[in-house]
Amino acid sequence: MLTLQVIRRELQGEVVLLTLAHVDGIPLPTFRAGAHIDLHLSADLIRPYSLCSDPQDAQHYQLGVLKDSRSTGGSLAAHALREGDQIQVSEPRNLFALDDAAAHSLLIGGGIGITPMLAMAAELHAGGRSFSLHYCARSRSQAAFIPQLENAPFAERVHLHFSDEQRLNLDAVLCDVPDNTHVYTCGPTRLMDAVTDRAKAQGYRQEQIHQECFSAEVQTGGTAFEVVAATSGISVKVLENQTIVEALAQAGLKVNVSCKQGICGSCLTDVLEGEPDHRDHYLTDEEKADGDQILLCCSRAKCARLVIDL
Ligand code: FES
Repeated sequence: MLTLQVIRRELQGEVVLLTLAHVDGIPLPTFRAGAHIDLHLSADLIRPYSLCSDPQDAQHYQLGVLKDSRSTGGSLAAHALREGDQIQVSEPRNLFALDDAAAHSLLIGGGIGITPMLAMAAELHAGGRSFSLHYCARSRSQAAFIPQLENAPFAERVHLHFSDEQRLNLDAVLCDVPDNTHVYTCGPTRLMDAVTDRAKAQGYRQEQIHQECFSAEVQTGGTAFEVVAATSGISVKVLENQTIVEALAQAGLKVNVSCKQGICGSCLTDVLEGEPDHRDHYLTDEEKADGDQILLCCSRAKCARLVIDL
């Protein structure tokens, strides 16, 4: 855990840009583009945000947080931060890394999904790698990061698409690229689904398509089952409308959680016995089929008793 200070706060439309630095001015842990950090906004409010700063900047982390009217607390608490405030954050973790073997990287960000793309563009530019960045937003006036993109050293690789001007032509963008192009997308689900569908239709392999979710629908509830935390020696009943995390908390066993939506991987735990009922968006289809790991914030069991390594 790091204690950082907000050294700059800037509002661009509905997005607050927060620049964080170590309170003692020492260099921060390094990260690769696509990484996120967890902001500990209060004791029970931990939220992951993508780093949008240049990974070569060892002194600062920058985040962009959208003011979300459906916020469950994270967005509002992040917007309430002021310059000079101190905050605990996790070290960077990367679940959305660039593939170093790609011949070309096609970055497609929608709305606040532009944030990891900014770090990716900076890293690819610094490495002299081939890439293009497409940023989709409802309108120029509502879009954040426009000044940064228009003044970036890679500005000629940036393509802006506004719904009220010129929309993105996905098929053209996906087709007009070299072989072994990897596509990275982040933003609204309908954009990411469209990118994935069109890329697959054009023959992209699954491993060439990368996406990062900010939020996700999680199917909740199901049949009650028993969870045994083998290391702790605790056994609990998970009720029909309860998560494993909630059931364990009632028995005094706290699980580290962040997104609580099966996205971030914070609550990933090994399964020792039993068959998980995966509800998350984090594990790959192969990992789900293996059945030896589970996300405790959202997934359940297909059997009466699940033994986990906790
Ligand atoms: S808390 Fe994020 S996946 Fe469970």
